[in-house]
Amino acid sequence: MDKIKINVSMAVIRRLPKYYRYLDELVEKGITRISSKEFGKILGFTASQIRQDLNCFGGFGQQGYGYNVRELRDEIANILGLHKPNNAIIVGAGNLGQAIANYSGFRGSGFVLKAMFDINPRLVGISIGDIKIMDIDDMGEFIENTDINVGIICTPKEGAQSVAKRLTGEGIKAIWNFAPTDLEVPENVIVENVQLSESLMVLAYLMNERDRMENAQ
Ligand code: NAI
Repeated sequence: MDKIKINVSMAVIRRLPKYYRYLDELVEKGITRISSKEFGKILGFTASQIRQDLNCFGGFGQQGYGYNVRELRDEIANILGLHKPNNAIIVGAGNLGQAIANYSGFRGSGFVLKAMFDINPRLVGISIGDIKIMDIDDMGEFIENTDINVGIICTPKEGAQSVAKRLTGEGIKAIWNFAPTDLEVPENVIVENVQLSESLMVLAYLMNERDRMENAQ
């Protein structure tokens, strides 16, 4: 995300999915309005943090009323771009690629998985649910004919850069990268890296800190 200039800080943007998830749950429960204080309590943020975050997008609450839950959820969905479906493909149909293909929450996030691609001829032709694994050599034509705008990289790290080059060469401008490597891409291409192991290391750090503090007492 470094190369694309955005006006709102990434820290705020990374909190928006959490706002959306909780608001969606409140709508499901039939709750129609909520104060920033109550909402903060649910989220574990302060009321002023919530007001500050939402003010980045114009602010949506009303003094003395709080937030209309459904309206705020829909506004956040709009800000996140969840209303426009994005067509995605997975490259690398191994363990992780297949697990992502099986993930049912895809559509709720505005993404529609259209196909998977792999170099292994033993995987080509197999389907994961209703998603077909295709030969990587058919990827260019598929992207062109199916209006694909997101590439999900689930190959080993050695192949990831060449896959990214191939995807961007076919006009893909957004990559969800699971391979543990930093990709070099043209200026206008967005790369969102996801690393479970980095999250685990943060957990390890926090456990370490807690133990250190407890031992110091
Ligand atoms: P895997 O070996 O089961 O699957 C990799 C697949 O990629 C294989 O089917 C292979 O044929 C295919 N492949 C290799 N080169 C290719 C290319 N150039 N074009 C198309 N397909 C290609 O491996 P697994 O466990 O699914 O892991 C895949 C990647 O995801 C690895 O880089 C791994 O480190 C990473 N990973 C990342 C996680 C995360 O949190 N970001 C979690 C788990 C794995």
